[in-house]
Amino acid sequence: MNPSGDIAAAPTVRTVPFGPLSIDVDDTVLLPRPWTYAQSRWAAELLTSLPEGDVLELCSGAGQIGLAAVHGTGRRLVMVDASHRACELARVNAARVTEEVQVLEGQFDAVLGDDDRFVLVVADPPWVPTQRVGEHPADPLWAIDGGIDGLEVARRCVRAAAKHLRPEGRVLLQLGTREQVDLLERPLAWAGLEVLEVREEGQGGSRGVLALLAPTTPSS
Ligand SMILES: C[S@@+](CC[C@H](N)C(=O)[O-])C[C@H]1O[C@@H](n2cnc3c(N)ncnc32)[C@H](O)[C@@H]1O
Repeated sequence: MNPSGDIAAAPTVRTVPFGPLSIDVDDTVLLPRPWTYAQSRWAAELLTSLPEGDVLELCSGAGQIGLAAVHGTGRRLVMVDASHRACELARVNAARVTEEVQVLEGQFDAVLGDDDRFVLVVADPPWVPTQRVGEHPADPLWAIDGGIDGLEVARRCVRAAAKHLRPEGRVLLQLGTREQVDLLERPLAWAGLEVLEVREEGQGGSRGVLALLAPTTPSS
């Protein structure tokens, strides 16, 4: 019920294109940002040379980035998001690929099994610093608010990704800026990960960076 006592209308579902996929969304989740298809493309490219194994997406929302990454690869995908509605939409969207997809609802550091291991972890945490969330009035707050420096969830993602990554695996992390990647230097080192490459994607008000991470190479 809404505050006036009426039965609240269910949010209207819209179907939007994302790469080769059609993705169902509504106003309760983040609308797919076109530039983030670059994360799917890079992930798909990584999968051509990574060993056999499953893919994990942390903070999957309606699921479009992970789904477009595994589309056509035959890889099993596990998606995790804390939002009930995002998971409902992700399950609908998962039916648009032929790959096996599991959607887990909850905090990613709580719902994954201790022994779950993946060859690729894709992560798209909220990364907007709290004091700048007002610049994105159309976006649900919990989907974009990354805390004081925008990195609160990203730090947890790094720890979870490292825990669930196979030794030969890779992590593809989405953040807002190169400066944020630099700020993660210590959490990455503590987690045993290092940055291999950073790419800037998008333009104008809709852009971000992608950081490719790998387990730290032991020094000789
Ligand atoms: C920036 S949105 C990304 C959603 C989607 N990947 C996209 O690009 O549209 C961040 C998502 O992270 C989820 N989230 C935030 N903290 C989380 C946590 N600790 N565990 C699981 N999901 C979380 C939110 O519910 C939200 O859907």
